[in-house]
Amino acid sequence: LNTVMYAQKTADISTISEKTLSSILEKNRTYYAQGKVADYIPELGKMDAKAIAFSVVDKNGKVFNSGDVQKKFTMQSISKIIALMVAVNEKGEANVFDKMGYFGSDRPFNHFSNLETTGKPLNPMMNAGAILTTSLISGDGEKPFLKILDMVRYITKNSTIDYSKSVYESEKSTGHRNRGMFYLMKNNGLISGNEDQLDNYFKQCSIELTAEDLAKIGYFFANQCVRYDGNSTYKNAEIAKLIESQMLTAGMYEFSGEYSRTVGLPSKSGVGGGITVSVPGKMGIGVFSPALDQHGNSLAGYHMILDLVKQYNLSIF
Ligand code: DON
Repeated sequence: LNTVMYAQKTADISTISEKTLSSILEKNRTYYAQGKVADYIPELGKMDAKAIAFSVVDKNGKVFNSGDVQKKFTMQSISKIIALMVAVNEKGEANVFDKMGYFGSDRPFNHFSNLETTGKPLNPMMNAGAILTTSLISGDGEKPFLKILDMVRYITKNSTIDYSKSVYESEKSTGHRNRGMFYLMKNNGLISGNEDQLDNYFKQCSIELTAEDLAKIGYFFANQCVRYDGNSTYKNAEIAKLIESQMLTAGMYEFSGEYSRTVGLPSKSGVGGGITVSVPGKMGIGVFSPALDQHGNSLAGYHMILDLVKQYNLSIF
């Protein structure tokens, strides 16, 4: 824990500007050199390690951007919060959490954890729980995936968002650990369908978007599922609380506890290098830098968030 800060003078969030973001981005640009681009999914290893982007959507829905904001990357595990929203909307929270826990974890995102003991995934943020969550969304074939994709398009108001076929194929052909979890959960009676359901998980992880899209997702959960332009079709304070609490407890995997101490905001990372952050009732933050730390979280992304949080006193604690 080398980042603890004690009381200091902080600025008013209404003064956040693109200049604020650029200066934080430039300060943290070189962190990529200390991280590693994920290559366990071969197609991800092709990403440009130096790409970096930083976006904020403020309380009024105004967007601030800095860096490579046009650059698309796959959302990976960030898709898990959208899948959770779709599943809970459809099935109700009790039915989803009857099959998995609300637990945090001290293990990596792809750990089998207690699938072999209690039989149930720890939470919907680790791979096992996320694969199960997606399998609970109704519909044949790729229908459940399309529901997740539609929700991402709705929240970002960006109908051009789609998934990367090459990343999907790469995940599908190398994701044997995820396949193992899928069949163990099927054996445990938690999953009843066929491998189409696992394909939907691979597809959702392969959805491509930008840091700005991530900031809009962060805004949505920070504001009771109201979109950044004020559209309230999915307004639901309880679902937002559920998603934010999962982000806080498990969104950064085994780093979540230390992250809560230093950043103190509900956040979700993905191995594509993105992190989406909700500042409850206030704003959304989206960062992108593909070089990861040992937990699978964007290294420069983390440091940009940390600096913004310190400068504007954004921690919920
Ligand atoms: O299933 C996987 O391993 C990837 N598609 C997603 C994992 C991920 O993003 C974990 N994040 N930090």
